[in-house]
Amino acid sequence: SIPLWLDCDPGHDDAMAIYLSLFSPFVNLLGISTVYGNAPLAKTTANTLSLLTAVGKSKDIKVYPGAYKPLFRPVSHAPTIHGESGLDGTKLLPIADDLPMPQGTAIQAMANAINQNPNEITVVATGTLTNIASLIAEHPEVLEKIKYISIMGGGINEGNWSDYAEFNIWCDPEAAKIVLTNDIIKSKVVMVPINLTHQAIATKSILKRVLYGNSSPPESSNFRLMLHELLKFFATTYEEQQGFLDGPPVHDPLAIACLFSLYGLDENVPDHKKINFEFTRYKIDVIQEGYRIGETVEVKLDEQDGVLVGKKMNIPGFWNVFLDAVEKADKV
Ligand code: BDR
Ligand code: CA
Repeated sequence: SIPLWLDCDPGHDDAMAIYLSLFSPFVNLLGISTVYGNAPLAKTTANTLSLLTAVGKSKDIKVYPGAYKPLFRPVSHAPTIHGESGLDGTKLLPIADDLPMPQGTAIQAMANAINQNPNEITVVATGTLTNIASLIAEHPEVLEKIKYISIMGGGINEGNWSDYAEFNIWCDPEAAKIVLTNDIIKSKVVMVPINLTHQAIATKSILKRVLYGNSSPPESSNFRLMLHELLKFFATTYEEQQGFLDGPPVHDPLAIACLFSLYGLDENVPDHKKINFEFTRYKIDVIQEGYRIGETVEVKLDEQDGVLVGKKMNIPGFWNVFLDAVEKADKV
């Protein structure tokens, strides 16, 4: 299985990334770091702990708070999409007050995880790239040991936070530029842009499967109810703010699912659970100023050294894999 570090800002779709990484048989989740983004750092961190609590994992997985603001710019959040809490729409479970405090910083914890899983580990980032840029700056010695850095972010000629920019990149374009252009790391960066994530829509029929699984007669659980409430809220804001009428795109778990393909794990599963991730390597640039700030640009094809820009995925396969993880989470 894939040794994986998750850096996230829950966030409705980050929640789905957390559950996929916890309950996919293909992933060994080593730890989580949090970043400001959809909500302030204190909230994304508390949300993470609460999501872990909902599946009885708050004592197993260490959660390290990372950056509370971008490298150079003022901080911004996305309450119009994720609500004031970052996870509006459900009643979050309270966090136990006897959780062990993690020792050391998020960046140090990430570096340790990399050192302990050399050449195998993937770092997944589903929020702004501030923590990952800090890792690159502070621990250049671990970069060779990373297999992939898989990020949900960017858009090719498509934006969501502006006409040009996707939210995660827009928040900290300097950090994004470091991650997407660093000479040691860029050929290991997997970029899952909105061009791809906008194909993974949580439609009404997906919502039904989240709520009831395959049970007949249809039966739900507290866990399924919570996920369903989160997705319903996400659907409402995405309809109002972004004009998505069929359901919200669930960006973040795709940055994990693509790894099942990249690690060759697709070969061992039936066709209806294959991810079949397709990418093209491009030299990427990130616009740093002006009205196109935060835009990710495919500068030119670079088959040797380019970022792996995600182009296609078997979306029904993704849903089957995700819903399997939900089924498993439900049984704990
Ligand atoms: C990204 O921005 C956040 O709001 C989501 O969690 C996702 O990571 C989509 O642009
Ligand atoms: Ca996110």
